[in-house]
Amino acid sequence: MNIEKILAEKGKLIDKEIRSVFPKSVQNLHDAVYYHLGTGGKRIRPVLAIAVCEALGGDVKKVIPFAAACEVLHQWLLIHDDIEDGDRIRREKEAVWVKYGLAHGINIGDYMSAKVYELILNSKNYGVGNETVFRLLNATVKTAVKTAEGQAMDMNLRKSNNPSEKDYMDMVVGKTGHYLAIPMVGGAIVAGADEKVIGTIREFGPCIGPAFQITDDILDLTAGKGRKEIGRDIKEGKRSMLVVHCLSKCNKKEKKSLLRILNKPADKTTNADVLLVKKLFGKYGSIEYAQDKAKELINKSKEITKDLPPKLRSILDEFADYMVERKR
Ligand code: IPE
Ligand code: IPE
Ligand code: MG
Repeated sequence: MNIEKILAEKGKLIDKEIRSVFPKSVQNLHDAVYYHLGTGGKRIRPVLAIAVCEALGGDVKKVIPFAAACEVLHQWLLIHDDIEDGDRIRREKEAVWVKYGLAHGINIGDYMSAKVYELILNSKNYGVGNETVFRLLNATVKTAVKTAEGQAMDMNLRKSNNPSEKDYMDMVVGKTGHYLAIPMVGGAIVAGADEKVIGTIREFGPCIGPAFQITDDILDLTAGKGRKEIGRDIKEGKRSMLVVHCLSKCNKKEKKSLLRILNKPADKTTNADVLLVKKLFGKYGSIEYAQDKAKELINKSKEITKDLPPKLRSILDEFADYMVERKR
């Protein structure tokens, strides 16, 4: 099974649904939404929703609005995340807040957040019952709450000179894990899966979420197509898994230099600074450590999926591998 191929094929299934909730009338709003959606993205979340629903024998048509909602949720979060991180580039293009201004950037994100719920409510038009719609809304509200908590932890942790691995894990489960897991949970709900299956999928999320984010931290050093500049996380002072590990291993003098660089404003961090941090990561094996951690989480996730129906298990295991093997 080729996950990239599945992403490309199934990712297209939500386009019409997304377009149905975004007219093209208001300047600096609808044009901005289409600009942002046009910058691309892998569409992992909607495809996860569709794939899980399908694997459980559900009617794929019924999950399309929810899958579309998961992608809009992600795209909204990215618009606000770039503001919070001061990131000027997203997917090799100007970030929304840079192109349309900060005030519009906030409003565009707010608008998209409301559209998430509108999309879920539209599930009714596809024959999804009220109780199922309520469950989808309930799960999505909880996810949005957890993600905002995780984003706050990310910003708070950037002020910490002694971030622990537990701090890191709590933060990434918060900011990345919940909203990576919700499509799978929702896909199972729409398929009418039993509670045991849904419970297992909920357990799977906190494993693959951090594995996905740790891979994101590593890819920051090797930026490929569709990504930002190399070392952007270092410039933003992110307490990535690599930073947490390196800080715990390096000597006092190195720790001082590392923190000095991380704690500088992003626009003051030079490429030489980034190189120095990369050298320290190399010296202490922080990249390998992070890779091992991600693999460990994936192995754990495969233990969790063991008792799931075989078709679902196989697709979730494939996605889990993709989370850490991906190059973008
Ligand atoms: C990036 O997510 C943000 C994180 C939660 C790490 P993706 O890697 O899914 O982003 P796109 O949509 O493919 O650009
Ligand atoms: C993104 O986290 C998490 C959310 C959008 C909620 P990051 O800040 O680590 O992701 P990138 O590197 O900007 O994509
Ligand atoms: Mg960011």
